[in-house]
Amino acid sequence: MCGIFAYCSYLQERDRKYITDVLTQGLSRLEYRGYDSAGIGIDGDEGEPFMLFKEVGKVAQLRKLISESKVDMTRSFVTQTSMAHTRWATHGQPSRGNCHPHRSDNKNEFIVVHNGIITNYKELKLVLEKRGYHFETETDTEAVAVLCKYVWDSQPTKRLTFTTLIKAVIKELEGSFAFLFKSVHFPSEIVLARRGSPLLIGVKTDKKLKVDFVDVEIAPDSDKLDLLNRETASMLSVPAASNSNIRRTQSRAFLSDDGMPQPIEFFIASDASAVVEHTKRVLYLEDDDIAHIADGELHIHRLRKDDGMSSVRAIETLEIELAEIMKGQFDHFMQKEIYEQPESVVNTMRGRVNFDTRTINLGGLKSYLNVIRRCRRICFIACGTSYHSCVATRAIFEELTEVPINVELASDFLDRRCPIFRDDVCVFVSQSGETADTILSMRYCLERGALCLGVVNTVGSTISRESHCGVHINAGPEIGVASTKAYTSQYIALIMMAVQFSDDRLSKQERRRSIIDGLHDLPSQISRVLKQDKALQQLARDTLAKEKSLLIMGRGYQFATCLEGALKIKEVAYCHCEGILAGELKHGPLALIDEHLPVILIMTQDSLYPKVQSALQQVKARKGQPIVICNDDDDGFSADDRLIRVPKTVDCLQGLVNIIPLQLLSYHLAVMNGVDVDFPRNLAKSVTTE
Ligand code: UD1
Ligand code: BG6
Repeated sequence: MCGIFAYCSYLQERDRKYITDVLTQGLSRLEYRGYDSAGIGIDGDEGEPFMLFKEVGKVAQLRKLISESKVDMTRSFVTQTSMAHTRWATHGQPSRGNCHPHRSDNKNEFIVVHNGIITNYKELKLVLEKRGYHFETETDTEAVAVLCKYVWDSQPTKRLTFTTLIKAVIKELEGSFAFLFKSVHFPSEIVLARRGSPLLIGVKTDKKLKVDFVDVEIAPDSDKLDLLNRETASMLSVPAASNSNIRRTQSRAFLSDDGMPQPIEFFIASDASAVVEHTKRVLYLEDDDIAHIADGELHIHRLRKDDGMSSVRAIETLEIELAEIMKGQFDHFMQKEIYEQPESVVNTMRGRVNFDTRTINLGGLKSYLNVIRRCRRICFIACGTSYHSCVATRAIFEELTEVPINVELASDFLDRRCPIFRDDVCVFVSQSGETADTILSMRYCLERGALCLGVVNTVGSTISRESHCGVHINAGPEIGVASTKAYTSQYIALIMMAVQFSDDRLSKQERRRSIIDGLHDLPSQISRVLKQDKALQQLARDTLAKEKSLLIMGRGYQFATCLEGALKIKEVAYCHCEGILAGELKHGPLALIDEHLPVILIMTQDSLYPKVQSALQQVKARKGQPIVICNDDDDGFSADDRLIRVPKTVDCLQGLVNIIPLQLLSYHLAVMNGVDVDFPRNLAKSVTTE
């Protein structure tokens, strides 16, 4: 839910202004992950080892606070480590106090930033309070900062290393997290830990790295600190540095030819968007990795030894361009991302759809096709917009594969503890690949032996890594909280999957070919709809801007379009909007219809057209004046009908075209209502808590 960023420079003179600019810039890139408050922790002056700046609101507010402070911004540091955080409140109101970094005590002995949730923080807090430690915030994170101090205080005679200390702390924690730790006892060092929340480290140096990986250093298992039950701290069993036999491999990547230390910078972040402007060389941490940066070297340790993990972490070169995550000529990321769709849908299909042979080949699924084709059922599990992409493609999966299909909201799937079997195929759709409910559902299915497929946008995300196989949708980074291009790309990825799963069925060949032909024309059809933007803006201003409630109706393939259109309008225009199946009209919603209630009816031409026509008549008979989304060549309307015309495509792809005007309408309504379009209130791009 939150964004983490840190900057470590070694043998590189940097003044405080430079450091705070790097930190706040990193935070702005991560703002889409959560943004109710932000804070930084930097090296301080004489008598004040760390300085913390915290502010409620967006990163711009934090920048203002820093620029107005009396701190000497010209003071320079040859080596320093600093950390930053943007928060989306889960435990405690957005306030300066609850904002990260959190500290262990009023001398800032330990400072911590955290993404995720510590589920046993109340027990920890209770124990620590009993032992005389004080708390000043309502957060779960603070318990971790105080626990660091407790472990340190409990070992007055043994000199712990920073890594050993943090290992002891992490072993006490339950929940999911990514952490950064700094301490006055370990100046210019930083320790990182992850379990369940992503963390990556960017490496920047002028010298060539010796090898493109970092060794994992194995230390012996230490006993878990039985903090909650033991009465005296002296019984703690943390191994001290002096007697631990850590196998130090000297972090080969960072060795120089002449053995002399060399300048280097590390950028740590929750995702790559905050790092790419500094370096493209990155390393992703795995769950239960503890990384330690000190003296220009990066060391990676494991929480427990011999747990079957690889003994190296690769330093990868990112292909993402900073330009990709900038707004360019657009006012908002949401608008930019809507406009990117003619291109992003091509990227989803690139290298996978062969329009000449009319075949589809998803590299990530190839070796699993035999298992998939033998499955008893396919379950789709997702949240929000990603769920809608599953609803949109359910019917074509049923038709092409003739296998029973379940589509589940991840939270409800978990609540019901749905029965899952070894011969089920479970598909987890997620833009971020980090949505907690979806990840937990996946782990539940993995435990039950089902084949788990991911359909994600973010390479290196948790779902992408933990699933057996899957498809990257390749839509490019999506920054706007309201998902737009990820929806169309997920939809296409799922269509491609349905086609590929069924390509052993001759009887479906014609249908598959018509879908592939439809995919070919899709980018230009989306472009044609985008050209109507001005007219849609006008429609939003003239007829919808002042409304408090709105219905979107359709049936069959268009039900998902109704749900997704309604979600867009709710989340960015703050207008109540409901997507309903037109077939259900007479079972309740009809009671709402009068000359005042605005209705959008999706009436593009497929086999259900006559039934939707009847819904239109029912609405009109009650003086409703719906706005109708219909095909270009449909001449069944009169001059005074309000129409949004869209090009016609194959029935199962029509939703990809029909969603575009609804995305644009919601965007314009949001702008007209003065909403901070890319950061709607109370919502976060990546929801990493249940
Ligand atoms: C892959 C490469 C792509 C290259 C192409 C050339 C990656 C990320 N993609 O694309 O750069 O141009 O080969 O053939 O390296 N996976 C999961 N879970 C998921 C998503 C994916 O396990 O949620 C796995 C897939 O099963 C596959 C791998 O990740 O093993 C890459 O998936 P994807 O990018 O979709 O594969 P390709 O399209 O073949
Ligand atoms: C959040 C976002 O609620 O998570 C939505 O605001 C998104 O836009 C949903 O659809 C699911 O996210 P993901 O990353 O799993 O697709």
